[in-house]
Amino acid sequence: MNVLRIHGGRRLTGEWRVHSAKNAVLPIMAASILTGEETRLEECPELVDVAYMADILRTLGCRIHSGDGALTIDPQNLNRHEMPDALAKKIRSSIFLLGSILARFRKATVTFPGGCEIGLRPIDLHLSGLRQLGVDVREEGGLIRCDGRHMRAGTVHFDYPSVGATENVMMAAALLKGRTVLSNVAREPEITDLQNFLNAMGACISGAGTHTVTVEGVDRLRGVSYCPMPDRIVAGTLLAAAAATGGDIRLTNVPCRDLYAVFTKMREMGCEIDEEESAVRLRAPQRLTAFQQLQTQPHPGFPTDMQAQMLALAAMAKGTSVVVENVFENRFAHAGDLNRMGANVLVNGRTAVVQGVDMLYGTHVTARDLRGGAALVIAGLAARGETLVERAELIDRGYERLEEMLGALGAEIRRDSV
Ligand code: EPZ
Repeated sequence: MNVLRIHGGRRLTGEWRVHSAKNAVLPIMAASILTGEETRLEECPELVDVAYMADILRTLGCRIHSGDGALTIDPQNLNRHEMPDALAKKIRSSIFLLGSILARFRKATVTFPGGCEIGLRPIDLHLSGLRQLGVDVREEGGLIRCDGRHMRAGTVHFDYPSVGATENVMMAAALLKGRTVLSNVAREPEITDLQNFLNAMGACISGAGTHTVTVEGVDRLRGVSYCPMPDRIVAGTLLAAAAATGGDIRLTNVPCRDLYAVFTKMREMGCEIDEEESAVRLRAPQRLTAFQQLQTQPHPGFPTDMQAQMLALAAMAKGTSVVVENVFENRFAHAGDLNRMGANVLVNGRTAVVQGVDMLYGTHVTARDLRGGAALVIAGLAARGETLVERAELIDRGYERLEEMLGALGAEIRRDSV
């Protein structure tokens, strides 16, 4: 088990360049098999979830090579349309492959991806979207068998703007002759990045970032070299770490326009934030002020993936904050560990009431999920004494060596394997 050992009280200062986005890279890896030609992803982060997705692509017959910061995917020998069960359960994002396998083979078999720590993670919106494209979807004992022989372009409406379901149907429609209109889609920036990647491959997709995406099907796609967008949540997490320590940091390779909701909340807490085109500087006050209320929403609302980090800041701020988690049903697991550090967080369903305290105290805590683990690290950076965050491997799913980033900014943090 990996443990991050943190000595709190060090002010973060300096500069760091943010790596590419996990939530852009994963759907793009799934989209790369829409062609038989090789794709090269530049600046691909070394993340556990990326490695899992690579393993799944290998099992399907792809050749994957990583080196000099890039990931190369050669789907020339892609020959399987059935997802490997064990791997599919390891990473929810495997469900993204459903759309691209159907586009290639007109048939696909996947297992129900497991839920995870933050919720049941159903896939009904994914399956509804594919059915609206004429896919015959049968759920048989944990397996999902898709018959796409009668797939055709058409209209797809989502009851909820699901990120993954939007991406899945975009990929399924890319090679479908005719026009497919997707309505009530997710507007996350990673959807736009997927659209950009698919269009670089020769697709004809427009509207990403709005409520409606239009796909003009093409006959074939080609391999490309592409650099996925920077990770807005890694950027937000590092800014939160600086805010927790009264720090002053500058981040480069940051999609500032995708972080307005986060910047606004951090300014409410007393941080000075100076934005440039693709860089941002944050100067934090000695003591943060509580924000009144934070509601997570689909983009461009406040991102659920930054909720845990902001709750950690609220725990040490002056005043009382209310956090409402509207996107996932169980995303306050970090509250219990924060309270063990001396925080005063009361959770009731989707609402957490946080009475800020003057000081948090280092102790043994456990990461329960990716962003909750990052929140505990943030709390440890501010806490008095030593904090041990166990199950740091969960944090590695979305952060490329978080301790290296924070260490470079002045934190006293190291990784122990026990
Ligand atoms: C993506 O998950 C991200 N993951 C998540 O990031 C992110 O939190 C989420 O979008 C919301 O922004 C990747 O992109 C790999 P959704 P996804 O479908 O696609 C419900 C992280 O920490 N829902 O928009 O699974 C679902 O249960 C991760 O980096 C259905 O009910 O998110 C949830 O309550 C965590 N039926 C809500 O919709 C469905 O078929 C939003 O889910 C699909 C989703």
